Amino acid sequence: MAQRQRYLFVCTNRRADDDAKGSCSVRGSEEIRAALKEQVAARGLAKLGARVCKSSCLDQCSSGVCILVEPDHFFYGRVTLADVPEIVEALASGQRVERLVLTSEDLTRG
Ligand code: FES
Repeated sequence: MAQRQRYLFVCTNRRADDDAKGSCSVRGSEEIRAALKEQVAARGLAKLGARVCKSSCLDQCSSGVCILVEPDHFFYGRVTLADVPEIVEALASGQRVERLVLTSEDLTRG
């Protein structure tokens, strides 16, 4: 298979529902990953544009649901299902959804 322009690593780590740290899976990351995969394919981006992958914990738990975008090397955070169309649209146009990009302050919180 061809190398894609971008890889989206969606954290699907799951901790117990009552774990104080929380986890992306408990916040709905599995559904978000599935919707991203479906919409990336529907937009014709799956073969060359972008590959949506599962990831273990990206150590940005307080900002979950968290997605690492490579090779651009930035994180989306606090992603919800409602954000998926905007993320896919940004992928298609080679841009990013700035309001979801984690800041350096977010990243130091972890
Ligand atoms: S559980 Fe998703 S970043 Fe840690």
